[in-house]
Amino acid sequence: MEYSEKVMEHFATPHNVGKIEDADGIGEVGNAKCGDIMKMYIKVENDIITDVKFNTYGCASAIATSSMATDMIKGQPISEALKLTNKAVVEALDGLPAVKIHCSVLAEEAIKAAIKDYYEKHGIEYDKSLFVEDCCNYEHHHAE
Ligand code: FES
Repeated sequence: MEYSEKVMEHFATPHNVGKIEDADGIGEVGNAKCGDIMKMYIKVENDIITDVKFNTYGCASAIATSSMATDMIKGQPISEALKLTNKAVVEALDGLPAVKIHCSVLAEEAIKAAIKDYYEKHGIEYDKSLFVEDCCNYEHHHAE
């Protein structure tokens, strides 16, 4: 199995690993395919994600994609973070082996879950259609 240099880099020294004690939103998701778990913490100020951290029991690809995904949403408005797809993250990493694409879904789903948690904890109205809670919807998110 071939990993790109960027994947190796992010796996070796992942960014934004850890926990935010006073997080504004926390998302926890499991991977339907392998059972691995991802936890994502966000801090939000004026609709901007000012900080984000993750913890995962996932594999190297899950760690690398979360590292990249958290870099990509840090400092961004929530609306932008919601648009982040696992495909964009995989592209930013110069690709993942096909059998590992499912791992990249964890980061995207965990970010969405954390944002949803933020909205709910703060009583903010949101468009529920942005969060499709379908456990078996993973195929639609897959990058080729
Ligand atoms: Fe489970 Fe990669 S094998 S996240």
